Amino acid sequence: MTDSVQDTGPRTLKLSGGDVLLRPFATGDEAAVLGFAGALPEHDLLFLTRDITQAKVVAAWMRDVEDGTIVSLLALKGPKVVGTTAVVRDALSWSPHVGDIRVLVSPEMRGQGLGQILAQEAVATATAMGLEKLTVRMTVDQQAAIAVFESLGFRGEALLRDHVKDRAGNRHDLAILSHNVAEVGARLSAFGVGAS
Ligand SMILES: CC(C)(COP(=O)(O)OP(=O)(O)OC[C@H]1O[C@@H](n2cnc3c(N)ncnc32)[C@H](O)[C@@H]1OP(=O)(O)O)[C@@H](O)C(=O)NCCC(=O)NCCS
Repeated sequence: MTDSVQDTGPRTLKLSGGDVLLRPFATGDEAAVLGFAGALPEHDLLFLTRDITQAKVVAAWMRDVEDGTIVSLLALKGPKVVGTTAVVRDALSWSPHVGDIRVLVSPEMRGQGLGQILAQEAVATATAMGLEKLTVRMTVDQQAAIAVFESLGFRGEALLRDHVKDRAGNRHDLAILSHNVAEVGARLSAFGVGAS
């Protein structure tokens, strides 16, 4: 069984498009993350609660990483960020046992298995954080995202109609998938990703 990056430190993935390094998001990475976010189609960002193309949002994300509200990984090809994960938990809310997972891969690196690996890493991280329920949100047309999370045992829990609005003012439905961590842990073991 393989441990997650949070347990074992950075590791390199051999993908068809080249080597990709997985490591935690750390101070100093903000400019590279902004470059990554700015190159993504706006539609791929609509599932996020905040607009990560804005420097102040990425700065707030880094502060949340530092205080432990968010645990985030970056996927890097050379100096370039090509993917991210985040596990978001609000320990001061009435849902301290719930983690919200976010995964993003740059369009040119899709279809090589990176999204699946990042999702597994995020779930392993959330499990190690002691979270009991995981949620993930996406616009309903993100078929790859739905495929990735359903393969890990997540199932549809809610559909929020017209819940997000793009910059042109068009509304989109948001799907929320969720899963119980104990069941997800068993599926991660099947994928060879450990979650202590
Ligand atoms: C979701 C996302 C991270 C997937 O990244 P990726 O690197 O392309 O994912 P993978 O290469 O690991 O593919 C994952 C699975 O999705 C499937 N898939 C890919 N594109 C698909 C599509 N258009 N329709 C259906 N399935 C698709 C793949 O076949 C693969 O399944 P398999 O392992 O059974 O073959 C990426 O599409 C993305 O960043 N989307 C925008 C952000 C988003 O919506 N994130 C989800 C919210 S957390």
